[in-house]
Amino acid sequence: MKKQKVFIVGAGGQVGSSAAYAMAIKQTIQEIVLIDLHPDIANGQAMDITDAATFTNGVIVRAGDYSEIADDDIVVICSGAAQKPGQTRLDLLSVNASIISDVVKQIVAGGKNPYILLITNPVDVMTYEAVKASGLSRNRVFGTGTTLESARLRAALAEKFKVSANQINAYALGEHGDSTFTVLSQATIGGIPLANFPGYNYDIVANIDKEVSEKVYKIINTKRATFYGIGQVISEIVAAILRPVPTIYPVCSLLDGEYGLQDVVLSVPSSVSSDGVHPIEGYRLSQGEYAKLQNSARVIRGAINSMK
Ligand SMILES: NC(=O)c1ccc[n+]([C@@H]2O[C@H](COP(=O)([O-])OP(=O)(O)OC[C@H]3O[C@@H](n4cnc5c(N)ncnc54)[C@H](O)[C@@H]3O)[C@@H](O)[C@H]2O)c1
Repeated sequence: MKKQKVFIVGAGGQVGSSAAYAMAIKQTIQEIVLIDLHPDIANGQAMDITDAATFTNGVIVRAGDYSEIADDDIVVICSGAAQKPGQTRLDLLSVNASIISDVVKQIVAGGKNPYILLITNPVDVMTYEAVKASGLSRNRVFGTGTTLESARLRAALAEKFKVSANQINAYALGEHGDSTFTVLSQATIGGIPLANFPGYNYDIVANIDKEVSEKVYKIINTKRATFYGIGQVISEIVAAILRPVPTIYPVCSLLDGEYGLQDVVLSVPSSVSSDGVHPIEGYRLSQGEYAKLQNSARVIRGAINSMK
């Protein structure tokens, strides 16, 4: 089997370098190639992470460029502006849209067919832009979506119910942004429905949507950026793309009729594997949750239309 590489565009920054570090330490993939508008910074990050990687069984981390990308390689895009205190993700729309379109054209130049994983915010809209600019299939271009919010949800439930987060199966869906919502009706802890779990009462989870969606602001207001959480999310999803057996993540991709939604990118439970990303139909949403999914679709469609 051909040896795949992962390329990280925007790797000079905090998110890209954290993702490279997470992948190097976990030995997710054998070769990590860093690209940035400032090649010297990409090179510096590569040298630093290479030092850390000497304590693994051998991972190559180096700076490189777009010409090296081959079919089936994985390209992670985190280039562009990040939220500053007081900004929402949608405030980054116009500055990041032109960066993404430019970067994507360089990735697919010459008709290449890689997998593209979007991180840059607002990630749902940037993923839409990347699908259109690349001409690739919707199964090969997707974003981390609400995987980070879902990790935040699991962290919050783990703290409230005093259990290990990896025993919790629960999703936040919709927009990676202020309109994201949690699907508590389907959440389980160790296979037990959340509402039946010892210690459960509605008051404990009444504010959980807000807790999950506002965590980003709490982090940015203190340390000015978020990068370790998303770095690990990227490492996990890249590992999933390398495996033939699918793993389910709430990533965002272009919907084509799933959940009654068309021509919009948002997060629903999806299978991720070497066959790409496939939204999974049949996840049961309550009426209220479905209305929130439609609200996220409205917010994202509005942002997409504002770019046209
Ligand atoms: N999807 C998520 O869950 C999630 C989570 C955290 C951050 N983010 C987003 O990730 C992005 C990066 O955040 P960060 O904190 O690393 O920002 P940063 O400013 O630290 O890094 C951005 C990097 O992109 C590079 N860059 C800019 N234009 C480029 C271009 N045209 N080509 C190549 N490289 C280019 C810059 O040189 C810089 O090194 C932001 O949009 C942020 O909002 C997304």
